[in-house]
Amino acid sequence: MEYRYMGKTGLQLSVLSFGSWVSFHKQIDDSIADTLMGIAYDHGVNFFDNAEVYALGESEKMMGRVLKNKNWERSSYVLSSKVFWGWRGKGNRPNQHGLSRKHIVEACHEALERLQTGYLDLYYCHRPDKKVPIEEVVWTMHHLIQQGKILYWGTSEWSGVEIMEAHRVAQQYGLIGPVVEQPQYNLLERNKIENEFLTIFNTVGLGTTIWSPLASGLLSGKYNEGIPEDSRFALSGFDWLKDRWMQESFLTKVKGLGALAKELGISQAAMSIAWCIRNPHVTTAILGATKKEQLNENLKALDALPLLTDEVMQQIEGIVKTKPVLPEY
Ligand SMILES: NC(=O)c1ccc[n+]([C@@H]2O[C@H](COP(=O)([O-])OP(=O)(O)OC[C@H]3O[C@@H](n4cnc5c(N)ncnc54)[C@H](OP(=O)(O)O)[C@@H]3O)[C@@H](O)[C@H]2O)c1
Repeated sequence: MEYRYMGKTGLQLSVLSFGSWVSFHKQIDDSIADTLMGIAYDHGVNFFDNAEVYALGESEKMMGRVLKNKNWERSSYVLSSKVFWGWRGKGNRPNQHGLSRKHIVEACHEALERLQTGYLDLYYCHRPDKKVPIEEVVWTMHHLIQQGKILYWGTSEWSGVEIMEAHRVAQQYGLIGPVVEQPQYNLLERNKIENEFLTIFNTVGLGTTIWSPLASGLLSGKYNEGIPEDSRFALSGFDWLKDRWMQESFLTKVKGLGALAKELGISQAAMSIAWCIRNPHVTTAILGATKKEQLNENLKALDALPLLTDEVMQQIEGIVKTKPVLPEY
C-alpha cells in the first residue's frame, strides 16, 4: 500500500480507502462488513469513511460494531463522519440538519456514540449550507478540535470559493481551517480536481478523499449489458443515480475503456481506480464494495498503476474525452 500526506497536514492516508455509502445496512450485514473491512485493513487500508446520513445512522452503527469486534489499535486507522443531512430523513425538524453550531455539535456527539469511538479523525461538512454563516461553521469545527472530539475538519462538494472563504475566516480569527475536501472524481467527472481546486492545491493546500471512483460501479463495466438484479442501480430509491449514469454516451466510453483494459491484461475496475490515484492531487480514492471479489479486484488498482504510462493515459483520454479545457499559452 502507498500512503500519502493529506494536503499540507501531517496525516497519512492509504491511497485506497474504504467507505460504507449505500452498501452498509442497505445491502450488506455485519458479517460481510466485517469481512470487507478485514480485507481492506489487511491490504494496508487505514481510512474508513462514513456519514450521519448513510442508512440514516445505521451505517455508522454497523461500522462501530465491526471496529469494536476487530479491536484494531485505534491509532492504526483513520475514521471519519460527515454532518449535514441529519439521520431522521423526512422526520428531521429544524436544527436536526444543516451546519448550525447546534447541529454540528450534536451530530458529532451522536456519530461518536454510533461509531463507539472517543474521537473522529476527520469530520466533514457533507455539503455547504447556504443559510449558515461560514464564521459559525469554522468556529464550531475549531472548538471541536480543541475539545479533542475531532482531529481535522474538511468539506465535501464545497466550491473552491466556499473553501477559500472558510480559510479567510480561519486566518482572520487564528482558527484551524478546512484541510481536506471530499469531491466526486472519476474518469467521467473531473472538473473540481483538475480545474476548480488547482489554485487551492498550490496555495493553502488541500487533501482530497475522492468518492465514487467507479461512478457507482458503471466504470467496472457491469452495466454494459443492462442492470444486474443485485446491483446498486437496481435498488429502489436509486433511480436518480441510475438515470444519472445509464446514458448511451457514457456506456460507449465505458465499453471503449473495457477494450483497453483487456489489452493491458487488467480489470476495467482496477484500471479506472488506478487512473484516479495516478493524479498526485488525489490523497485517497474511497472504494465501495458489496462483495469480497469486488474489493479484491479493486485493490489491484495498486498493481495496475505502473501500467498507466503516459501513452496509455493518452489512449484513455482519447476514449473518454473528459479532460477539462484550461486556458493555454
Ligand atoms: N461525500 C459524498 O458526498 C460521497 C458521495 C458518495 C460516496 N462517498 C464515499 O465514497 C465511497 C465510495 O463511493 P462509491 O461506493 O460510490 O464508489 P464506487 O467505486 O464508484 O462504487 C462502488 C459500488 O460499485 C460496485 N462495484 C465496486 N467494485 C466493483 C467491481 N469490481 N465490479 C463490479 N461492481 C463493483 C458495488 O456496488 P453494487 O455491488 O451494489 O453494484 C460498489 O458498492 C462511499 O462509500 C462513501 O464513503 C461520499
